[in-house]
Amino acid sequence: MWMILTIISLLQVVTVHSLDNGLARTPPMGWLSWERFRCNIDCKNDPDNCISENLYMKMADLMVSEGFKDAGYQFVNIDDCWMARERDSKGRLQADPDRFPHGIKALADYIHSKGLKLGIYEDFGTETCGGYPGSEFYMQSDANSFAEWDVDMLKFDGCNSDPKDMDTGYPVMSQFLNLTGHKMVFSCEWPLYQVVTKQKNVD
Ligand SMILES: *[C@@H]1O[C@H](CO)[C@@H](O)[C@H](O)[C@H]1NC(C)=O
Repeated sequence: MWMILTIISLLQVVTVHSLDNGLARTPPMGWLSWERFRCNIDCKNDPDNCISENLYMKMADLMVSEGFKDAGYQFVNIDDCWMARERDSKGRLQADPDRFPHGIKALADYIHSKGLKLGIYEDFGTETCGGYPGSEFYMQSDANSFAEWDVDMLKFDGCNSDPKDMDTGYPVMSQFLNLTGHKMVFSCEWPLYQVVTKQKNVD
């Protein structure tokens, strides 16, 4: 995203500097669960392949034992379907209590103890692509949760939203992340969803 910001500011020939908080100076390298494990939440019948704290702990162990960490891979990233179906009584996100019984902070502590970093997933719209609570109307609360949990990267998806809102909304989330004072890489699905929508209109 920072590269995109830089390109935009060059195009506009204004003196806006991209955020310099020391993160993502080189492309972040790591592992993201989506491509292999998707939204498999069936821990009863498929305990080794379901989205759960055990899966991410196992991947962290493997990234160390198989040499990926030494090769420069740092991130273990959660994708969709980690959440409980509802926010808590204060409107805060919560991890699914059966699949993440110790919560995200404990998982982050484990990942950090291996010398790695933890990424998490949310969505800019009303719901994630998998139908879990989205960040619309809750962006600051969610940024604060991720900071409290010691998360190192946020993938912010674009399902169930109006792509027209993204030009203002994604930078707002960027501000909220910055305000937490906790450094997080912000991995945006903006402007991807705008491009895809445009192509759909053209077809
Ligand atoms: C917030 O943004 C400022 C620059 O605008 C930057 O210096 C600072 O490191 C950022 N803080 C975090 C936590 O990313």
